[in-house]
Amino acid sequence: MTEPLQPALDRIRRLVLDPEGLVRAVASGRRRGLPPPEHVKVVLRPVRLKDGVRLQVSRDDGQRPHTANVSFDEAEATLGELLAQPYGNWLVETTTRTVTLRVTKRGEAQVHTSDVGHEQRLDHDRAAPHLMPPDDALFGALGAGAAKRRQVDAFLRAVDPLLKSYEDSVAIADLGCGNAYLTFALSRYAARLGLTASTVGVDVRADQRERNTALAMELGMDGTLRFEAASIEEANVSDADLVVALHACDTATDDALARGVAAGARHIVAAPCCHHDLAAQLKAGGVDGGRALLGDGILRERFADVLTDALRAQLLRLHGYRVDVIEFIDSAHTPRNTLIRATRTGGAASESDWAHYRDLTTQWNVKPRLGTLLGAA
Ligand SMILES: C[S@@+](CC[C@H](N)C(=O)[O-])C[C@H]1O[C@@H](n2cnc3c(N)ncnc32)[C@H](O)[C@@H]1O
Repeated sequence: MTEPLQPALDRIRRLVLDPEGLVRAVASGRRRGLPPPEHVKVVLRPVRLKDGVRLQVSRDDGQRPHTANVSFDEAEATLGELLAQPYGNWLVETTTRTVTLRVTKRGEAQVHTSDVGHEQRLDHDRAAPHLMPPDDALFGALGAGAAKRRQVDAFLRAVDPLLKSYEDSVAIADLGCGNAYLTFALSRYAARLGLTASTVGVDVRADQRERNTALAMELGMDGTLRFEAASIEEANVSDADLVVALHACDTATDDALARGVAAGARHIVAAPCCHHDLAAQLKAGGVDGGRALLGDGILRERFADVLTDALRAQLLRLHGYRVDVIEFIDSAHTPRNTLIRATRTGGAASESDWAHYRDLTTQWNVKPRLGTLLGAA
């Protein structure tokens, strides 16, 4: 759906000029048929300086960013100039929503708004404070190394806006929890947000259940945190509001997503691990014309990763979830840095949504495990 450009830009203006709500705004790209804007990209965000909160305007000329800080009174004129430039895209992240505006070929606005909010960080140096301090006794007891602490913190950051949408209580299920760094951290963090959290960590390995249960007792968390030794398919998670899975192996991620859907979970968040299932199907499938893409093992695996996650995201949409797929941590930390984040809306899927899914499975001659589990194959 498109709409006239000017009123849509006015809405962007109002969001950016709200120092309490703005987290970040980015203008980028160019409009078809028009000369390029003065800068390749402009990033705006509020920062706290000695003399108060300012709007930081960072203009990137393709070589390096040039940064200036203006008061929110002056910001109106600065923003007016930027909005008048022929940028093709605007992204605005606020504490309560994410808005994207794309200017179409016809010069109209295509606006998408989601209620995914972001944390506002006004520190000038942008050193992101950890949601769970790395020196928290929890990590010491769990024996987590620095890399794992960072990964858990990044995952928490992605879940944070979702957790903040709960008012009193939240039932969390961490499927394929392993050593349960994330399970403990989520439970602790939800409690810090003032929520009554009941959390279950599920792993097929009985030794993990024993270790994690003992640690929960040691940390005085056994009243709200329990562990089950079970396969994800069999675990008792039907009352979960928030289902998470961090690097559950291969199709265990599909099992976790399917359990979340079956439970009608309000939120499902998964960072997938390896994707052998579709890679093997692509190898065996012999799709005509696919040889250049699938003939080489590395490319086939990478393509299988993308295809698997695209189909997962689409299946969740078909089952009444709004989905975004993000990188939750930089790829230097782990190449398994994709995160599928889904919020239940209960919206019905259209025929064309199903057609998008079937087009992909037919074209590549694959049967994704999640499709089978959800009866879509
Ligand atoms: C790579 S580890 C990740 C552990 C943890 N989530 C983390 O990120 O630290 C994957 C875990 O999933 C468990 N797992 C794999 N398939 C499973 C299944 N079908 N049901 C239950 N647990 C499973 C494994 O035993 C293992 O502990």
